[in-house]
Amino acid sequence: MNIKHNIPLITENCINKNKNLLYKNEITNGIYYNLVNKKLKEIFNIENSVVSSGTEALFLIIKILRPKRIWIPEYSCISLTRAANLANYKPIYYNNTNLNINKNDLLIIVNTFGKIFFETNEIKNLEKSGVFVVEDITHGYSITEKIRSKIAFSSYGYTKLISSFGSGVIFGKIAKYINYGDKPLNKSIYITKPNNLTLQSLYFNLNRINEIIKKRKYLAKYYDNELKNINRQDINLLFKFESYEIPYRYCVYLDNSKKFSEYLKKNKIESERPIWIHNKKINPFFSKILSLPFHESLNINQINFVVSKIYDY
Ligand SMILES: Cc1ncc(COP(=O)(O)O)c(C=O)c1O
Repeated sequence: MNIKHNIPLITENCINKNKNLLYKNEITNGIYYNLVNKKLKEIFNIENSVVSSGTEALFLIIKILRPKRIWIPEYSCISLTRAANLANYKPIYYNNTNLNINKNDLLIIVNTFGKIFFETNEIKNLEKSGVFVVEDITHGYSITEKIRSKIAFSSYGYTKLISSFGSGVIFGKIAKYINYGDKPLNKSIYITKPNNLTLQSLYFNLNRINEIIKKRKYLAKYYDNELKNINRQDINLLFKFESYEIPYRYCVYLDNSKKFSEYLKKNKIESERPIWIHNKKINPFFSKILSLPFHESLNINQINFVVSKIYDY
């Protein structure tokens, strides 16, 4: 049994085959643009504009809002830093203790791995005090409350919870400030829509959103149940998911995650240590985190096998 860490809904093979068709983005409307826009409005009940990536979505939000400072969670994807840097900002990395935020600052909250870290009323209070709260829903969102801030964005890249050949979306009233054809970066880079083929793949997966959520919740619950006695072996669950959360990655942490990952590999189980460059230096705890196989094609036999190898370790 060879168990993959992630099998994207859209395979790399398929991307490679279509490479010359996929990355020609458009400014004018294709039919799938309107369908995706309508579908997203139906799901999230909020205005939206589709752009070419999650990084571009955040970059555009920053360019429109021009905040004083930008706060990024210290454990988060490097793309957020990239978007801030592209907009000429040096972000501040926050944790539970150092968040010292003021009016006109921009706070990015990220539901990393599908975990919801901010309460809805905290978001509302921050917004009332003049903070631009931007929820990154790429890894997941609260099913009961969906998007909770006035401004949000997502990546629908090919490995993401809801995937396409590559796209991003800006959510909220701010979406109407996006002018396709503008040049916010430099003379040669326009704001574009993903091409029709990409939007078609996004539309297809948005239509399966409930099925995707149901499967991921089921798999995470199964893992939770099988691993509930794991603490006696010094391997800890990073967190348990609540019923309103949508799991994107299933992670454990332990002192020597590298050695454990090699042990799993010997047993033909792929895992990933999601340490992003900027947070490697920030907090040694992050290097303990290990992401276990977790994707839509995973089945119960495979989870049982992973779990048995974890208990054998
Ligand atoms: C949480 C999160 N936000 C944003 C992004 C950026 O999205 P994209 O790759 O579409 O630019 C990523 C991934 O790369 C991500 O994991």
